[in-house]
Amino acid sequence: MKHLLSAADLDAATATLVLDTAAEMAGIAGREVKKLPTLRGRTVVNLFYEDSTRTRISFEAAAKRLSADVINFSAKGSSVSKGESLKDTALTLQAMGADAVVIRHPASGAPHRLATWVEGSVLNAGDGTHEHPTQALLDAYTMRSRLGRLAGLKVAVVGDVLHSRVARSNVALLATLGAKVTLVGPPTLIPVDLQTQVSYDLDAVLPDADVVMMLRVQRERMNDSYFPSEREYARRYGLDGPRMRKLPEHAIVMHPGPMNRGMEIAPEVADSARSTIVEQVANGVSVRMAVLYLLLGGKP
Ligand code: NCD
Repeated sequence: MKHLLSAADLDAATATLVLDTAAEMAGIAGREVKKLPTLRGRTVVNLFYEDSTRTRISFEAAAKRLSADVINFSAKGSSVSKGESLKDTALTLQAMGADAVVIRHPASGAPHRLATWVEGSVLNAGDGTHEHPTQALLDAYTMRSRLGRLAGLKVAVVGDVLHSRVARSNVALLATLGAKVTLVGPPTLIPVDLQTQVSYDLDAVLPDADVVMMLRVQRERMNDSYFPSEREYARRYGLDGPRMRKLPEHAIVMHPGPMNRGMEIAPEVADSARSTIVEQVANGVSVRMAVLYLLLGGKP
């Protein structure tokens, strides 16, 4: 595999290899010296056309822990604001000898275009409402490490599925790995094209879920009104304390971040022992190390 553009491109064996490699990488994070020489002399460019906290820092930490040289590019403050196209930016990176380009872009499909213009590997760090494959991998890693398996797990993905690349990538990857996904939210925020189970009733789904993945309501992608009010949304689809207590004992609560506390998730839930939110961030570094290693360095 040269690029990681879509979770749908991963078969079960490849996805499992990434998760197993990530588990080995996690051992490094516990060491005093958190560094491997694997990617010494290689250059990884982080190309971010959209705001990001976790994903950008996580890819940077991952590349650095593998000893790669890291160049961070954010569209704000670059020649993009002078009208430079993605293609010309790509050719500039190419001229600088990028071995891998990590791209986040508001346009769905931008990483696929980029892959035709550069010689190095392209890693999709989120493209529009389309995909976010490393997020799905770190989510799967988190489920597997908390619950011991993925096959047969019942996963409820709740909220603004329509605008969520996290949901799209999770639906694809979890299907490949044998988990059962139910999408939950108001009908206006559940797309019709995803081949998986759907429910509009969160309370009905909770008692039988192993995992609840809460999604952020993505106001910046809404140019219409999808629900009556924030209060109404929180009342029907927000995960608060009483709702959380309907979950089975072993169930976990996930959120990719950033959270709207009090909207889709109550602080009491986000900060509870069931919450894996901080763990997901830590696991993200191990998973991205694994992906970089397998794409760039792991070949014999
Ligand atoms: C998500 C994203 O940007 O797609 N965040 C993330 O990468 N952890 C989800 C979101 O923005 O709500």
